[in-house]
Amino acid sequence: MAEPARKFSVPAQLLHWLIAALILFQVPLAWYMIDLPVSPDKLASYALHKSLGITILGLSCCRLAWRWLSPPPPLPANMRPVERALAQLTHGGLYLLSFAMPLSGWMNSSAANFPVSVFRLFTLPDLVAPDPQLHERLELLHRLLSYGLLALLLLHVGAALYHHVLRRDNVLLAMLPFARLR
Ligand code: HEM
Ligand code: HEM
Repeated sequence: MAEPARKFSVPAQLLHWLIAALILFQVPLAWYMIDLPVSPDKLASYALHKSLGITILGLSCCRLAWRWLSPPPPLPANMRPVERALAQLTHGGLYLLSFAMPLSGWMNSSAANFPVSVFRLFTLPDLVAPDPQLHERLELLHRLLSYGLLALLLLHVGAALYHHVLRRDNVLLAMLPFARLR
C-alpha cells in the first residue's frame, strides 16, 4: 500500500530554506565581487563569499546526515515513473552541487595560494598545492558548476510551482513551514 502523504520534518525544512537562501545570496554576491576593481570592498566580498560557501558545505553535511536519519516524505502516488526519475535526478544534482560548488571554490583558492578563512574564526587547510594552471582550470570548473546549479534551480522551482498550481498536490506544501497538507 502507498505511504500516506506527510510533511518534511522541521529540521529538513529549516535546512532546505536556510541553504536555499544562502545559495540565492551567494550567486549574485559572486557576480558582484568578480567585477569589482581591487579594493577593500572586493577583498571583503571575497572573504564573505568564501565564509558563506563553507557554511553551505557544513550545513549540507548536516542535511544529508539528517536525511539519512529522517527519510523524506514519498512523492505523490499519481506521478509517472519518468516524472519520479526527473525529480530524483534534479534533487540528486542539487545535493551533489551543494558539495561540489564549495569544494571546487576551496580548491580554487588553495591553488591560487589564498588561504580560506571562515568569518576570521579559523583558517582551513589547503586542499591542493599552489599551481597557477590548476587554479585557472578550477576557476572555470567553479563557474561551469554554477551554470549547472542555476539550470537545475530553474527546473526545481518550475517543478515546485507546476506541482502546486497545476497538479494541486502536496509537493510544495510538504516543504513549507506552517502550511497544512491538502
Ligand atoms: C554553494 C557555494 C558556492 C556557490 C553557489 C558559488 C558560486 C560562485 C559563482 C556563481 C561565482 C562566479 C563565477 C563566474 O561567473 O566567474 C563564484 C566565484 C568564486 N568563488 Fe564561489 N561559490 C560557492 C562557494 C565558494 C567557496 C566555498 C569558495 C572558496 C572557499 C569560493 C570561491 C570563489 C572564488 C575565489 C571565486 C572568484 C573566481 C574568479 O575570480 O573568477 N566559492 N562562486
Ligand atoms: C527558492 C526556491 C526553492 C523552492 C520553491 C524549492 C522547493 C522545494 C520543494 C517543494 C521540495 C520538495 C520536493 C519533494 O517533495 O520531492 C524541495 C526539495 C529539495 N530542494 Fe528545493 N526549493 C528551492 C530552492 C532550493 C535550492 C536553492 C536548493 C539547493 C540546494 C534546493 C534543493 C533541494 C533538494 C536537494 C530537495 C530534495 C529534498 C530531499 O528529498 O531530501 N532547493 N524543494
